[in-house]
Amino acid sequence: MIPSEIIARKRDGIALSRQELTWFIEQFINNELTNSQMAAMLMAIYFKGMTEDETIFLVEAMINSGATLDFSGNKKYVADKHSTGGIGDKVSLILVPLLACIGMTVPMIAGRGLEFTGGTIDKLESIPGFKTNPTLEQFSAWVKLNGCAIIGQTQQICPVDNKLYSLRNVTATVPSIPLICSSIMSKKIAEGVQGLILDIKIGKGAFMKTIDQGQELGEWMYKIGKAFNLNTDIVFTSMDQPLGRLAGLRCEIIETMDCLNGNGPKDTMEVVLELGSRLILQAGLTDNISSANDLLISHIENGTADAKFREMISCQGGDIEKCLSKVMKPEYEQSVTAYNDGFIHNMETEKIGWALVEMGCGHKSTHDELDYSAGIEFLAKTGDRVKKDDPVYRVFSANNARIEKAIEMLKSTFSISKNKPEFSLILDSTDVSL
Ligand code: URA
Repeated sequence: MIPSEIIARKRDGIALSRQELTWFIEQFINNELTNSQMAAMLMAIYFKGMTEDETIFLVEAMINSGATLDFSGNKKYVADKHSTGGIGDKVSLILVPLLACIGMTVPMIAGRGLEFTGGTIDKLESIPGFKTNPTLEQFSAWVKLNGCAIIGQTQQICPVDNKLYSLRNVTATVPSIPLICSSIMSKKIAEGVQGLILDIKIGKGAFMKTIDQGQELGEWMYKIGKAFNLNTDIVFTSMDQPLGRLAGLRCEIIETMDCLNGNGPKDTMEVVLELGSRLILQAGLTDNISSANDLLISHIENGTADAKFREMISCQGGDIEKCLSKVMKPEYEQSVTAYNDGFIHNMETEKIGWALVEMGCGHKSTHDELDYSAGIEFLAKTGDRVKKDDPVYRVFSANNARIEKAIEMLKSTFSISKNKPEFSLILDSTDVSL
């Protein structure tokens, strides 16, 4: 087969066969294709889309690029959660230990920041010593020991997602339904889980800008789940403003611990409880949402969720005390203030995400160093009343020049209205019915 011929077929809107897609992915993983050839293919997929069959073939090829885990002998429900990416979204970090506490096994493979969205793995790597790239054996051992572990895409499991992810991030090819779908579902299927809860983010700070796009992505994810025998439930949540009080890297670990200790922001906890309780129902551990919620809250109140998080971090080599210590606090901070009296309205969440990337919380190019100390505290969000000159954002980092740039970008990321605007966080939380 000839790579450029296959790329041309996709460019011209012709559906590729299982053989062609498998071969193309194998060539890429064996370094027989250049990044430019793969980037051209990704752009062709971005513009021409893929059929359901093609997407299934792509998922298969991605899974087969590495090893898969098998928890079939496990007596507990083996499950995971994934989001399509947002700003300030630390829900995975909170849910993983919580679900392990209530008796699920959670072997999570998470991602790094993509474009303007934050990455769970980048946040975890702000904890000194924390390992996200173990061998398969080590990962399985961690999961067996603690009931949960969070790692990134490795050379052993879904290695091709690792390569494609970095390439998509710098070639403007992220917001493609088949590419998002295959990236997420291949990792989840390779983990060997029985069940999955997906958080499809919708709105200004998400890859799916409208509920219709999100519903379409949801239908694809659901179909792929079905094709690979994976129970899949989906919740659609708004990214029309950042989630929680803090967005960045290390600061999100701190907010995670606030949530695990009962001091989390209302919006973050609403998403945690919605996703967690739906997964509990899927696992058959309770038969109604209210008792599933109570179960989750009880593990926050009795301190076991915090203990499980600390156990997981320390087992993966991380030093949480060092992460929380004063020494590692940022050196510089500045505020963005309200230009008028009124209510915060229309937060431009994608722009906020790009300001975070500018400060070193995300990757502009594949080899960028991250600034773990940088971040934004949201002192007012949609619907909050502010007075002229009140601080709306507190922006912090180890690099003052980067703060200056971010402040310029952030000034135009909210408007102030006379009337209090409406905001709904959970947009839809039904299973996708096909
Ligand atoms: N998360 C992933 O793992 N992949 C995507 O493409 C988007 C979000």
